[in-house]
Amino acid sequence: MGGITDQLNGIKDIKSNMLEASRIRWLEDWSERIGGERLEHTRIRMNSQLCYKLAASVIIGCFIYFSVVSFRMQGEQVLLIVLIFSRLWPRFIGIQANLQQIAAAVPAFTALRELQKECFDATEISGGGAAEHDVKPLQIASGIECRNLSFRYEGSAGAYALRGIQLHIRPKEMTAIVGPSGAGKSTLVDILMGLLQPESGQVMIDGQPLTGRNLLSLRRSIGYVPQDPLLFNGTIRDNLLMMEPHATEEELYEALHFAAAGEFVARLPQGLDTMIGDRGIRLSGGERQRLVLARAILRKPSILVLDEATSALDMENEAKIQEALDRLKGHMTLIIIAHRPSTIRNADQVITLEQGRLAGITQAGKEGTAGAETPQSARVVG
Ligand SMILES: Nc1ncnc2c1ncn2[C@@H]1O[C@H](COP(=O)(O)OP(=O)(O)O)[C@@H](O)[C@H]1O
Ligand SMILES: [Mg+2]
Repeated sequence: MGGITDQLNGIKDIKSNMLEASRIRWLEDWSERIGGERLEHTRIRMNSQLCYKLAASVIIGCFIYFSVVSFRMQGEQVLLIVLIFSRLWPRFIGIQANLQQIAAAVPAFTALRELQKECFDATEISGGGAAEHDVKPLQIASGIECRNLSFRYEGSAGAYALRGIQLHIRPKEMTAIVGPSGAGKSTLVDILMGLLQPESGQVMIDGQPLTGRNLLSLRRSIGYVPQDPLLFNGTIRDNLLMMEPHATEEELYEALHFAAAGEFVARLPQGLDTMIGDRGIRLSGGERQRLVLARAILRKPSILVLDEATSALDMENEAKIQEALDRLKGHMTLIIIAHRPSTIRNADQVITLEQGRLAGITQAGKEGTAGAETPQSARVVG
């Protein structure tokens, strides 16, 4: 099912690369395998039933034979016993069928229990189920600090995605994170938001380590625009309200205008009530990005995290968002991952990552590096 979903989602790639034949073969292979498995299953079931019935007949036959020949029972006595047994037999069959069913369900049950245990172990906050509105957003006073962070993805054979990261993100400033793709930028913000746990080192929020208690408060105050934004099949309004169910019409438009999305939404025949299709398939890449940005801003977060959120935009719209971000400077903590120098022109601090290591930190107005292991590779961007 997972495979079929992938194929359907990637239908455009498949058709444009003429992969239909190989994909159909893939589906046929799987169908054949599933068919084979089913046949085998039926065969095993039938064989075991056959054995069971044969054994039952043999036992009954032996029983009658021995009772008549060896124990010299009367015909009526045998008949009586057979009658009693024939009454009891369905009960035995029932018990046997139930046992069989339990035996068949045990592996699935065990797997489910294991999954459940895994989920419990991964619970971020014990005592769980804290309702969203119970969590107070966090006001950051002195900033977010990374102390000697290292992180490896599972199964990455010892390669560090991040190594010895030491930095300080000051509140209400614009911090840019730049570096080539694969440098660990997205991984770094995932750790800052507590989505990934560092292997060593710590994230400190106002001098307090990021733990279960302040994690939710931190998340509550973050507006996050991921690299591959997720939109749901519904209207634009649904997608916006999902983040902030009580937002008024005015607030919705305000957020859309902030994200330079007001115009394109107004141009749509049904405006805010336009259906956008699966994962927003009916919008262009840039329109999706702007919608997700509007959604993030709707919450009025105190920390806004953008992961290459303007990469799919044309210059004009990027400039508009740039302006809007400049206006937010000083009111919100901005963490912006970007490739284009234009996006980070006005950053107060530029953090450069290279292959998971800090290659340099540039402060606005000052040129120089701090905490870099290889200062000569530090670059001044923008
Ligand atoms: N889920 C994952 N599992 C294993 N390795 C990953 C995963 N996500 C990213 N990586 C690896 O970690 C490194 C950093 O990735 P990422 O932080 O996404 O880079 P960036 O955002 O700077 O382009 C890359 O080498 C990538 O291959
Ligand atoms: Mg990334």
